[in-house]
Amino acid sequence: MDAAMELSWGARCAGLLFFGSSIFLVALAAVLLLLRRWPWCSCHVCRAYLTGSWARDFTNLGDWYAHLLRQSPTATVHIHVLGCTVTANPGNVEYMLKTNFDNFPKGKQFAALLGDLLGGGIFNVDGDAWRHQRKMASLELGSVTVRSYAYKIVAQEVETRLMPLLTDVADKGTVVDLQDVFRRFAFDTICKISFGLDPGCLEADMPMSDLADAFDTASRLSAMRGAAASPLVWKMKRMLNIGSERELKKAIKLVDDLAAAMILQRRKLGFENSHDLLSRFMASDGDVHAMDDKYLRDIVVSFLLAGRDTVASALTTLFIHLSQNPEVAAAIRAEAAAGDKTSTNGYEHLKSLQYTHAVLYENMRLFPPVQFDSKFCAAADVLPDGTYVEGESRVMYHPYAMGRMPTIWGADYEAFRPDRWLTGPGGSFAPASLYKYPVFQGGLRVCLGKELAITEMKAVSVAMVRAFDVEVVGDNGRSGCAPKFVPGLTASIRGGLPVRIRRVSTTNSDFR
Ligand code: HEM
Repeated sequence: MDAAMELSWGARCAGLLFFGSSIFLVALAAVLLLLRRWPWCSCHVCRAYLTGSWARDFTNLGDWYAHLLRQSPTATVHIHVLGCTVTANPGNVEYMLKTNFDNFPKGKQFAALLGDLLGGGIFNVDGDAWRHQRKMASLELGSVTVRSYAYKIVAQEVETRLMPLLTDVADKGTVVDLQDVFRRFAFDTICKISFGLDPGCLEADMPMSDLADAFDTASRLSAMRGAAASPLVWKMKRMLNIGSERELKKAIKLVDDLAAAMILQRRKLGFENSHDLLSRFMASDGDVHAMDDKYLRDIVVSFLLAGRDTVASALTTLFIHLSQNPEVAAAIRAEAAAGDKTSTNGYEHLKSLQYTHAVLYENMRLFPPVQFDSKFCAAADVLPDGTYVEGESRVMYHPYAMGRMPTIWGADYEAFRPDRWLTGPGGSFAPASLYKYPVFQGGLRVCLGKELAITEMKAVSVAMVRAFDVEVVGDNGRSGCAPKFVPGLTASIRGGLPVRIRRVSTTNSDFR
C-alpha cells in the first residue's frame, strides 16, 4: 500500500514538474517572440499573418503570398513580424542563387533544424563541405552507368509493383490514396538507387518499412522545429529530452541504425561493381571520406530526403490536373502510342516525349513540390529591384507564387496549359529561365536529380495514363476545389488524394 502511494505521489510530482516546465517553456517562447519581433508591427499584412485572417480569403498561405506579391510593384514584400523578405522577382532570384551566391547561404539556422537528421549531408551544408559533395555527387549522377542503373530501377518498380497494385485496385473498384501510393513508390525507388537495397513499401500487402516510418517521423519533426516561436524552445526540449524532441531523437536513432546496417551490408555484398550511389561513393578514388561511415550515412540520407517526397508530391498533383483535364491525358496517351512505332529503347522513348515533358513542367509551375526556399542574407545587401535586405536576416524566394505571376506567365497564368512550354523548334519543349521557374532551384545549387526525377515521373505518368482513367473522389483537388497543403519542407496534400481508378477500355498498358 505504502509503495503504491509512494508511486502515485511520485507520478503526481513528475506530472507537476512536466506541467510546470511546459508552462515555463510556453512563457519563455512568448517573451522571446516578443523580443525577437520587436518593434511590434501592426501593418495589415502582419496583422493578417498573426491573426490568421488571411485564411478567410485564401486556401493556402502560398496563395495569400502570391496575392501580395502580385500587388507589389517589385514583386517583393517584407513580412515584418517574421523578419523575412519574400520575393517572386526573377532578377532577385538570379542574384541570390547565382550572381551573389556567397552572400545567400542556407545559413546556420536552417542547418540546425535539419542537422540531427541530415548531419553534414549535401542538402544541409554550405562552403567547402558543400562544394566537395556537390562535385562528387554531380559526377556520379551525371555518369551514364548510374543513369541507366536508375532508369532500370524505375522501370522495374513501375512494371512489377506499381502497375500490378493499381490494376488490383481498379479491378476491385476500391478507393485508394494516390498520394500514399506515390510516397511508397518513390521511397522504394530512391532507396534502391541510393543504397541498392529494397525496403519493399509497395508490395501487394503494402507494409510500411521501419526505415520509411522513422524517416517520415524524423523529417516531419525536424520541419516542425522551424515552426517554433524561437529556436530556443526546441533546443531546450532537446536538452531536456522531452516531447517532440524525444520522439525525434528516437526516430533519428532508428534511421542511424538502419543506415549503418545498410552500409555494412553493402560492404559485405561488395561495392566495386554496383551502381547504386552508396557503392559509387564508397568506391570514389582519392576521396579521403570514402570509407567514413558517418560521411556515407549523411550523403545517402540527404538523397532520400531530396528524392522521395518531391517526386511523390509532383506525381500526386499531376493526377489532380489530369483528372480535371481529360483532354491532356488523352494527348499523353496519343503521344506515347505514336512513339511505340519508332522506338526500341525505353529510356530514349521517354526522353523523346515532348508533350508529356510539357505537362510535367506545367503541373509543377502551379504546384511546385518545394513551394518556397529560404536563404540567409549574410551581410546587408540590395536586391536588383532596389529592396534593401538587412544582414543576418531571411530572404525567401517563392516558386509557388512565381508560378502565379502574370508578369512571368501572362494573363492566363491560372490556366493549366501545357502548350505554353511547346515553343521550341517544331513545337518541341522549351524550358523557361531557371530564375523564372526555380522549381528545381537554379544557379550553383540547382537540383542534381532533375533528369532522374523527370524520367521517373514520365515513366509513371505514361504507364498509368495509358492503362487507367483516374478520378479524384475527395474534396481536395476535385474540379473547382484547390488542394489544401500541409505546411512542411515538401508540399503534401492534407488528407491525401483519394481516387478511383478504372481501366482504359482500349489500352496497351505495357510499360516501355
Ligand atoms: C520533382 C522532383 C524534384 C524537385 C522538384 C526537386 C527540387 C529541388 C530543389 C528546389 C532543390 C534545392 C533545395 C535547397 O537547396 O533548399 C533541390 C536540391 C537537390 N536535389 Fe532535387 N528535386 C527533385 C528530385 C530530386 C531527386 C530525384 C534527387 C536525387 C536523386 C534530387 C537530388 C537533389 C540534391 C542532391 C540536391 C542538393 C543540391 C545542392 O545543394 O547542391 N532531387 N532539389
